[in-house]
Amino acid sequence: MKINKKFGNKLLAFVLPFMLLVGCGTTAEEKVQEDSSVKVSSSESNEEVNDTKAGANNKLPNVQILATGGTIAGGGESNTSTTDYKAGEVGVDELIKAVPEMKEIANVDGEQVVNIGSADVTNEILLKLGKRVNELLASDNVDGIVITHGTDTLEETAYFLNLVVKSDKPVVVVGAMRPATAISADGPLNLYNAVKVASSKEARGKGTMVVLNDRIASARYVTKTNTTAPDTFKAEEMGYLGTIADDVYFNNTVTRKHTTETDFDILTIEKLPQVDILYGHQNEGTYLFKAAVDAGSKGIVYAGSGNGSMSEVADEAAKEAEGAGVEVVRSSRTGNGVVTPKDYISANSLNPQKARILLMLSLTKTENKEKIQKYFDEY
Ligand code: SIN
Repeated sequence: MKINKKFGNKLLAFVLPFMLLVGCGTTAEEKVQEDSSVKVSSSESNEEVNDTKAGANNKLPNVQILATGGTIAGGGESNTSTTDYKAGEVGVDELIKAVPEMKEIANVDGEQVVNIGSADVTNEILLKLGKRVNELLASDNVDGIVITHGTDTLEETAYFLNLVVKSDKPVVVVGAMRPATAISADGPLNLYNAVKVASSKEARGKGTMVVLNDRIASARYVTKTNTTAPDTFKAEEMGYLGTIADDVYFNNTVTRKHTTETDFDILTIEKLPQVDILYGHQNEGTYLFKAAVDAGSKGIVYAGSGNGSMSEVADEAAKEAEGAGVEVVRSSRTGNGVVTPKDYISANSLNPQKARILLMLSLTKTENKEKIQKYFDEY
């Protein structure tokens, strides 16, 4: 497991409050010592899927936690600071040890994939994560996956997994808005709830889910709506799949195709094509389209105003891009609603950042505009 060395000595200071918050009167050290069945065997992500581990309770489901960083693993100098901290400071071992209550609901094992702020997630990391999730879920020894992730781009990773995971087993992506060191950190309960959902039989076949703030949302519909508030993840028009109030309650299902129903097989994908997002605004020029094409973009997602509207200038530049073999998708910067089909490929109800994910994957299969539109209409 990798822990940032610069902050190594401060690690305990980061983790102790995280532990104490869930400690209910027991010290952090006691919590860790009494925690014999929460298995922490962090490893680099190419490790083979292990056989059932010694000490596992065979009545409980086996949940693998893949840690990638973010605020849920973040640490700051002061416990009253909820915005001044560094994401990706705490490793998966500490995250797991800090919530020993998880041992009552699952055999939990951890693996550090990366430990970064989610703005730094690259296509390479997405592919690595997606391949590892598929590898783990193919094993009879894994019943569900939880991925800890920064919230800033969490919805992009979650939607990517929703499209490439080839299993009905639950995949839950979880984050936190307050660092581990903050008063009232939301990470411990979010993580506990995520493991609970990943352990639930009812969660099977629902695609990749996002769990924060007691809500279960589909990766297809959820988006981050607030810069700092813990209730930032909303699925405004489509609604949540369910809630967690000690128990897991599912209310809705996803009608969009996902996981086993999609055409995408990342086993065969070594590199994702470059797709860029251009944000529409008054007085825009043609030069950003040209720059994207010159830089090798294979696709451009245009975040248009209103119903994906384009200025005449943007339309001219987009047509030139199409002429150069670049696929253009019209999406909307409004945050809600369907972009109705017209001249370019329509993002349907996907926001620009998720439209980028789907366009990248679509381009690994086809350059045919109608086929790509079908993906947008069905996924
Ligand atoms: C990040 O996305 O890595 C930082 C912000 C967060 O996790 O809330």
